[in-house]
Amino acid sequence: MTNLSSLVDLKNGTISREIFVNDEIFKQELGQIFSRAWLFIGHEDLVPNPDDYFVSRMGTDSVILTRDRQNKINVLLNSCMHRGMKVCRYDQGNTRAFTCPYHGWSYSTDGRLVEVPGELVGVPGFGPYYHEKLDKKNWGLIYCPKVVNYKGTIWATWDANAPDFLDYLGDMKVYLDAALDHRDGSPGGSEMIGGVQKWRVKCNWKFAPENFIGDMYHDISHRSVDLVGIGPSGGKGRRDKTIGRTTVSFDDLGHGIIGTLPYREEFPYQETFKNHPEIEDYLKEVYDRRLKNLGDRLRVNTSVGTIFPNMSFHGRQPRTIAVFHPISPTEMEMWRIFLVDRDSPQALKDAARHYYMRYSGPGGMTESDDLENWQYATEASAGHVARRYHYNYQMGMGYAEPVPELRGAWNNGEYSEGNARAYYKRYLEFMEGRDWDGLMAASRAHGEARSDA
Ligand code: FES
Ligand code: FE
Repeated sequence: MTNLSSLVDLKNGTISREIFVNDEIFKQELGQIFSRAWLFIGHEDLVPNPDDYFVSRMGTDSVILTRDRQNKINVLLNSCMHRGMKVCRYDQGNTRAFTCPYHGWSYSTDGRLVEVPGELVGVPGFGPYYHEKLDKKNWGLIYCPKVVNYKGTIWATWDANAPDFLDYLGDMKVYLDAALDHRDGSPGGSEMIGGVQKWRVKCNWKFAPENFIGDMYHDISHRSVDLVGIGPSGGKGRRDKTIGRTTVSFDDLGHGIIGTLPYREEFPYQETFKNHPEIEDYLKEVYDRRLKNLGDRLRVNTSVGTIFPNMSFHGRQPRTIAVFHPISPTEMEMWRIFLVDRDSPQALKDAARHYYMRYSGPGGMTESDDLENWQYATEASAGHVARRYHYNYQMGMGYAEPVPELRGAWNNGEYSEGNARAYYKRYLEFMEGRDWDGLMAASRAHGEARSDA
């Protein structure tokens, strides 16, 4: 195992290019991070009916997200236990069993018939060739021991000892909620519109979560789009103005956002689609409901955030979830799904869909700026001489202030690399092979300190 402490030098705010280009370090990431951390798998709308499935990824592994006939959601490794063939080669569909095309072993997802998800139920020649001696119970598909559905988003981990998802999330939950909850403040209720956009980028996978965790500094990249104005309000800029924006990091957990500190509703603020009077009226009504539903409770807004290690989300406009699957040190597969409130009028859903396509995804005018940066940065960092030198992450060091309302949260100010430093602090803790007691100790200590307060 490579010792990364000199490569990720958080005391000096520098990080070696090796972690973005090196094969050995990439393998270590798959073992220490992607085999243990909670990972975003998909949205429940991808598997709305019993026996529906959707093929996703966890690190470099192909996995199948399924909904069984008891409405339980499972995540199965998409590799036959006999010789490893992919048991499912489609992107999504509906089936009661996965039958391997190679020799015909079949695995059931029907919770009434089998005790564990993906149990081996059919083996050609079980009597004549195996003499009924094959222990089928032990040769089912590998499945994730922990899977949760959080407000429609599906998360899983391979590690049975991982903490509960909500502990893993910590108080970052309030920011994720701000993205997933209804615009009127009631919990959940978002639905996916369109399918999953998937595309490959020749860049290290960490560029994306690092960008979305709090990089306000790269605005210059989007200058052309800002000048043209592609926002839903019809004015200048890419999106609606974000109020009171800052960056907040959860240093013990590796999550962070660009958004607001917790606040009370002091100013009227709502999303706008100024070219669409019908939508404007609806949004005003939603905003009134929001004031009523949330009362004087503290609230936050999230422009964009990252949940360690590879999921990011935009909480306002566009409202979307992105995930960055590692393919190699210098290639990732990026996915996006887009959300709207399930009960919003069709006109809003259509306008949002058009805006999302203008903004995000491989053809999105803003996304393509970022992809170009990450791709050329990766390529230029892989050079023999280039990789000797560290990147600089020193912006705003020593200027963070605690956020009293949120456990373990730091306000780094609008322009700072504090969130990126928090991300790589967590990265180092995972890569060092710390166990969960070690990984969660600081966060638990914060929890106790606050409950004593
Ligand atoms: Fe699947 Fe042989 S590889 S049955
Ligand atoms: Fe960007």
